Amino acid sequence: MSELNLFEKRKADHMKYAMEKASDVSLNLSDQIQLSHEALPDLNWDQIQTRVQHPIFGEIETCFVSSMTGGFEKSLEVNSILAGVCEKNQMLLGVGSQRRELTDEAAKKEWQLIKEKHPQVKLLSNIGVSQLKDHKTSEIYELVKNIQAEALIIHLNPLQEVIQDEGTPQFLGTLDLIKKCIDETPCPVILKETGCGFSKATLERLKGIGLLAVDVAGFGGTHWGRVEGMRSDENHRKSASGVFAHWGMSTAQSLEAASALDLDFEIWSSGGIRTGLDVAISVAMGATLCGLARPFMQNALESSEALQGFVEELHFQYKTALFCTGSKDSQTLTEKGQWQWVK
Ligand SMILES: Cc1cc2nc3c(=O)[nH]c(=O)nc-3n(C[C@H](O)[C@H](O)[C@H](O)COP(=O)(O)O)c2cc1C
Repeated sequence: MSELNLFEKRKADHMKYAMEKASDVSLNLSDQIQLSHEALPDLNWDQIQTRVQHPIFGEIETCFVSSMTGGFEKSLEVNSILAGVCEKNQMLLGVGSQRRELTDEAAKKEWQLIKEKHPQVKLLSNIGVSQLKDHKTSEIYELVKNIQAEALIIHLNPLQEVIQDEGTPQFLGTLDLIKKCIDETPCPVILKETGCGFSKATLERLKGIGLLAVDVAGFGGTHWGRVEGMRSDENHRKSASGVFAHWGMSTAQSLEAASALDLDFEIWSSGGIRTGLDVAISVAMGATLCGLARPFMQNALESSEALQGFVEELHFQYKTALFCTGSKDSQTLTEKGQWQWVK
């Protein structure tokens, strides 16, 4: 099979298996963390604001669409639906890995077309840390410019690279490559996991390198060790996928670790965020923004109306949590910081 066909097959497999129930860990934040109820909120419902004023992105919703792969059969259609709904609702949209655009001119067209149709949508570029090894920073920055993105996301996925048949688990020296990329890229850079989260020790190592944000993308939702295990034909990879099916720092653990540190970057929350209450818990634990991947994709695969309906539900739930904690906005909820582990 040619490299291009292999790429397309991998992306189609990822979409298929990532949408299966068995790849979702289903560890809800609201089963683990509680917020304090305010019986006497000194607020009216209409005063509550679910949007934030972000120093880089301007006025945006607290929730955003987490990076999801393009390059599969229906991706132009589905990504157009995501872009339309994000534009309408002022939500950031993380595009999926742009790896293929590094070598395939035709692949560059998809997001250009979408951006022409939805000029107001704010996009976040995406590339895997492995690509920093083989490509100059100028090539990586081209990806950002090509889709007029607001910032670059670099994703980390050590477990996935090990379990994936064609994975590249070569992470030696990657922190230096990330630093170099931040120094040489004239746009904000965000670092994210893909469902296994960050420990306190790893977060400490990321201080002082100039990141805009770390998106914890913790254990709790889509699990790429599981997805790659379902795809693999090799027994040792399949069995390792089962053994590591519960591997990762949960989103709650990652947010707690971050809250105990004096960090010089924003913390974003994702990984198993499924409701507006999960969003509120994330914000109370210190997250500036909160991403969802799988639920947005499931709805976008159905229709634009289904996705818009889901977004409205999510915002209504988040607004309810703001009201019932007596918080007029996300900033107030973070300042209150009234969260605790469920006993
Ligand atoms: C279909 C699909 C494709 C994804 N592709 C990417 C990707 O290309 N780059 C990336 O950084 N993360 C990717 N992710 C990971 C998500 O951004 C996110 O970190 C992870 O799925 C956890 O969020 P969730 O539990 O809400 O799905 C993908 C997730 C899904 C479901």
